[in-house]
Order: sequence, then structure tokens, then C-alpha cells
Amino acid sequence: MRLIITNSYEQMGFEAANIVAGQIYLKPDSVLGLATGSTPVSMYERLVAVHRTVGLDFSEVTTFNLDEYIGMGSDNPQSYHYFMQDKFFRHINIKPENVHLPDGMAEDMEAEGERYEKLIAAKGGIDLQVLGIGQNAHIGFNEPDVKFAATTHKVELDEETIMANSRFFNHADEVPRYAISMGIKTIMMAGHVILLANGRNKAKAVYKALCGDVTPEAPASILQLHRDVVVIVDREAAEMLPSEIRGVTIARKG
Ligand code: F6R
Repeated sequence: MRLIITNSYEQMGFEAANIVAGQIYLKPDSVLGLATGSTPVSMYERLVAVHRTVGLDFSEVTTFNLDEYIGMGSDNPQSYHYFMQDKFFRHINIKPENVHLPDGMAEDMEAEGERYEKLIAAKGGIDLQVLGIGQNAHIGFNEPDVKFAATTHKVELDEETIMANSRFFNHADEVPRYAISMGIKTIMMAGHVILLANGRNKAKAVYKALCGDVTPEAPASILQLHRDVVVIVDREAAEMLPSEIRGVTIARKG
């Protein structure tokens, strides 16, 4: 694992965008795994800026998002389909047919999970996976007590996740109880992984992911076993990391 501690949320997004852009420059037909939520927004903004200013080319890039709420169609403003169009895809030159998210409206979620996995495999697997982390250390919507061997599947959201995500809704009752998410196995098969976190409310989860036991109780802890992970966190999210770990990191300006 490589750890980058940044001075701000914007800087975190900047560092992540550099890695994603580097991946695309080296392999223009890269397959990216993408996340939603507040965390990666600054990364998307920076990637859009790089596309506009120096023409970073997404025309051969393929994307697979981690997850979608069950029962939400792509035209629903709360859906992750909508979020990705709004924050990223409509601002870049990616081909619509190269954009993939699990279908939260599918009739048979098991079949949908299998379809999604086959599609990822048909594209040669994910080159670079971007992850956020939940306060309970979930990645994707793989909640504590996760089965590490799972691929894309239906998940029941934790109460903690529902409360955390209620900030995007009028009321906690409106947050869907179920989602379809890539599994830990899907995530672990990616060639490279970037884990992003910002804010003090993520400090405990970051500590568990990097320094805790590898356990299904803290799904992100499995990343300790991945061969190529870059963790990019702001100072607040790094707060609980022991100084010997923080001491060997690059603390960037900005
Ligand atoms: C989003 C996802 C989740 C989020 C996590 C953090 O696609 O899979 O794991 O990354 O819940 O969410 P934010 O960034 O909103 O704090």
C-alpha cells in the first residue's frame, strides 16, 4: 500500500485524478471502476478540468460503477446513474455505450449480478478501481460481515449507511434499503486500486482499513491483501493513523 496524505479535500481529488489520468495516458482503452458519493467529486471535477484544458481523451475508456440502489431508474435524481451523468460523464467525451452501472430496476438481481460480472470479464477486467469508504469501513456497498468471495450481488444496507446517506434525501425513510453492488472479489480482481477518504468522520474506518485485522467486520481491511493500492486521504481522515505510518508518507502541499 502507498499512502498519500493531503492538506485538503481538493488536493485529495487532484492526486487521485493524476493517477487516473496517468492510467488513461498509458492505456487509452482503460477499464475504470468508479464510485459515487461525496468523496470522489473533487476527483471528477479535476478530471473534467484536465479533459477540457489538455484534452484528456475518454473516447476509448470503459467504466463500471460499483453500485446502484435497487428500485431506482436512471432518470431518478437520487440514482447513481444520474449522479455519474451529472458529475462526470456528460462533461467528458466518453461513449455512452462504454458506461456501465448495475441496473437497480432489474427484475432478477442474481441474473443482473451475473450479467455485470460477465460484462466486466468481457472487457478484460478492471484496470483501475476507485473506492470511497463508509464510516463502517464498507467499500462499494459491501457492509460489515461481508463475504469476501462475493461478486456483484444484492445487498441490504446497514442502518449506519442509511443514516449517512440520508443527507442526500429529504428523510432517512426515503433511502432505499437495498442496493446491488460489486462484491469484494470483483474489487480485489482490479489491477490497481485507489482508496479515497476525507474528513474526521472517516478516520476510524481508515484506521481499520490500513491498520486493523483483515476481517469481514471491516470490509475495506481486505485491501491490505491487494498487491497495488494507493490510499489518498486528507489530514483529518489520517488522524488516527499511527505516526510511524504517517511518518513515511508524502505529505503534499496545497
Ligand atoms: C459509492 C460507494 C460507497 C461510498 C461510501 C462513502 O459508490 O460504493 O462505498 O464510497 O459510502 O460515501 P461518501 O463518499 O458519500 O462519504
